[in-house]
Amino acid sequence: MHLKKIRLINFKNYKETELAFSPQINAFTGLNGSGKTNLLDAIYYLSLTKSAFHTNDAMSISHHEDFFRLEAVFDKAEQEYNVETGFSNTQKKIFKVDKTSYEKIKDHIGKFPVVLITPFDTDVIREGSEERRKFFDNVFAQLDSEYLEHLLKYNHILKQRNSLLKKFKEENKTDEILLAAYDEPLIETAEKIYGRRKNFISDLQPLFENHYQSLAGKKEKVSLIYQSHLENKDFKSAYKASLPRDIFLERTSKGTHKDDYVFLINEMPLKNFGSQGQQKSFVIALKLAQFDLIHQVKKNKPILLLDDIFDKLDDERISQLLNMVANDKFGQLFITDARPERTKEFFKNIKAKISIFRIENGRIIDN
Ligand SMILES: Nc1ncnc2c1ncn2[C@@H]1O[C@H](COP(=O)(O)OP(=O)(O)OP(=O)(O)O)[C@@H](O)[C@H]1O
Ligand SMILES: [Mg+2]
Repeated sequence: MHLKKIRLINFKNYKETELAFSPQINAFTGLNGSGKTNLLDAIYYLSLTKSAFHTNDAMSISHHEDFFRLEAVFDKAEQEYNVETGFSNTQKKIFKVDKTSYEKIKDHIGKFPVVLITPFDTDVIREGSEERRKFFDNVFAQLDSEYLEHLLKYNHILKQRNSLLKKFKEENKTDEILLAAYDEPLIETAEKIYGRRKNFISDLQPLFENHYQSLAGKKEKVSLIYQSHLENKDFKSAYKASLPRDIFLERTSKGTHKDDYVFLINEMPLKNFGSQGQQKSFVIALKLAQFDLIHQVKKNKPILLLDDIFDKLDDERISQLLNMVANDKFGQLFITDARPERTKEFFKNIKAKISIFRIENGRIIDN
């Protein structure tokens, strides 16, 4: 699959811009703040129906305008698809493929998959478990639309159960029968989420380790471990036993909303013992494993978006990475770099069709 064309209107610092891409490698170059990442974000948006960097669509509207619009032509199995989306301050978001709107916008997710690697990815290592759950939920949602449905259902029931727990506290009385109505659907949905997370992670692990070794050599051993309350064979009893605690805390203390993913380097926590380059390599290997998994499941190569990957990696790892992503195993590639000479130098020996776009203040000045 690849992106043939894109058109942006009032999207961030782009007034009106149309671009046609190489099916292989595309590089966006320009000074800091020129709009390289914004272009990757437009592609991400057209694939995942939201920005990679914030959840507020209004923030993507150019300053002093009241709407934005994005259009794209994707090629999938030699067939063209016209994808368009728009958002305004006064109207609901639209999302269409070949002029047909979705009943639910989320049904678009996974149709034209992308994998984005950004400097912010390493936050997933340093931040709390919520960031890691969000990170993997995004990965799994592109693979399996049912996963997203279970997740939305789970969050909905959890919210209701938690508000009931709050109400008990306020009213100083507990109605266990009312509360029990949430237990069965909550546990049932948690089991579905747990099963999928477990399977996805076990599929991801070997792919991830393989990519890390290709990037960094065999001298470092990395691991990715999934942790959940549901590992406990007796989860139902543990969940029920925590009722007094739940009532006291006014929230549900056991379930998949407390899952975490542990990252290790040479058996030690990556957060504390990984260098910045090792942390960066870890998330890049994770994202490349995500690429492989989407490819396996969807029989379709995602578009790979590489934002500022030169930061923190040494030259050996950069050239290893570029050799990996420029080879036939990967599909279309978009890469940003503030220094065009460096991009040219790295791709010098790669036999692929490369389009280089020079950007200045939200305008393409050369390609
Ligand atoms: N809604 C918006 N309206 C207008 N301009 C915006 C909007 N959102 C972001 N920008 C502008 O976009 C620019 C940043 O663009 P972007 O992040 O794409 O830069 P970049 O080329 O990737 O830079 P760097 O090399 O620093 O990563 C900033 O100047 C910012 O003010
Ligand atoms: Mg940038």
